[in-house]
Amino acid sequence: MTNNSTDGTLVRCAPAKVNLFLHIVGRRADGYHELESLFAFTRGGDSIAVSASETVEFSLDGPFAGTLSSQGNSDNNLVVKAARLLKERYEVEQGANLSLTKNLPVAAGIGGGSADAAATLLALDEFWQLDLSSAELHEIALLLGADVPACLHAYPLFVSGIGDKVEPAEVPKSYGILLVNPGVPVSTPQVFGHYHETSNGYRPTLGKPKNDNSSEILDWLKEETVNDLEAPALELCPQIAEVLQTLRNVGSPAMVRMSGSGATCFALYDTDDQARSAQIELALENPGWWCFADSLQTA
Ligand code: C5P
Repeated sequence: MTNNSTDGTLVRCAPAKVNLFLHIVGRRADGYHELESLFAFTRGGDSIAVSASETVEFSLDGPFAGTLSSQGNSDNNLVVKAARLLKERYEVEQGANLSLTKNLPVAAGIGGGSADAAATLLALDEFWQLDLSSAELHEIALLLGADVPACLHAYPLFVSGIGDKVEPAEVPKSYGILLVNPGVPVSTPQVFGHYHETSNGYRPTLGKPKNDNSSEILDWLKEETVNDLEAPALELCPQIAEVLQTLRNVGSPAMVRMSGSGATCFALYDTDDQARSAQIELALENPGWWCFADSLQTA
């Protein structure tokens, strides 16, 4: 979703991605894992503002700007990589001033960098009037990361392949969500690597939820699915166990699980108000944790 201001600045939200389940179903010869997952997106997240400039310029603010800039050169930031890729591929003469407000924790299993890259592609497609087809955007997104294509869509998706095959799916509707991160970055390649070293075999394929009834999808998620990366992530980051246990005991969550490769965990509540009350309680008791109550985009 974009907002255009009167001074010509275009602002686009990069919502958090939540893996309602994540199964590893195989591994390709190049080392990438084949998976099945149900992706849902929050309403809030990072935001990227694009304004006119002769060259590609990048700046950062927001609560997690410091964490991101401490990771090194901004040339390695996926926002800058996305802009350069588009500019070179389509021989764009203009530049762009890209200002990222980093509200989501970094290396956290909720797609932050991938969501930022996807939002940048969509914002620049509009700002530079490239009018790219969704197939072209998808192809470019995949060059930036396995789950960047999925982050081009804010609606719920069943995701397969290495994260690059996406199709619309139903997720439980009208639930409030609380995301909690213990403030410990977790490396996605390390978690996949540890999964590979410790797992014995792969899960059979399951396919997407077979019906569109919210409570039945929730039951299906709880009974038939897991996050296969939870066990290896827990071994690398024991604080995840504390987050999961704490979430189970705050209010009456309908479901509690880790997202992606961690360390962010989520709890679904029957209402947004219940998610917000749980957020207040948890944030007071755990000042070092990032606690974010929101709702899921459903279509
Ligand atoms: O593609 P992306 O940069 O997001 O992936 C980060 C790392 O996570 C990869 O280099 C790979 O080690 C691992 N990965 C994987 N299988 C996937 C996605 C990521 O093994 N489907």
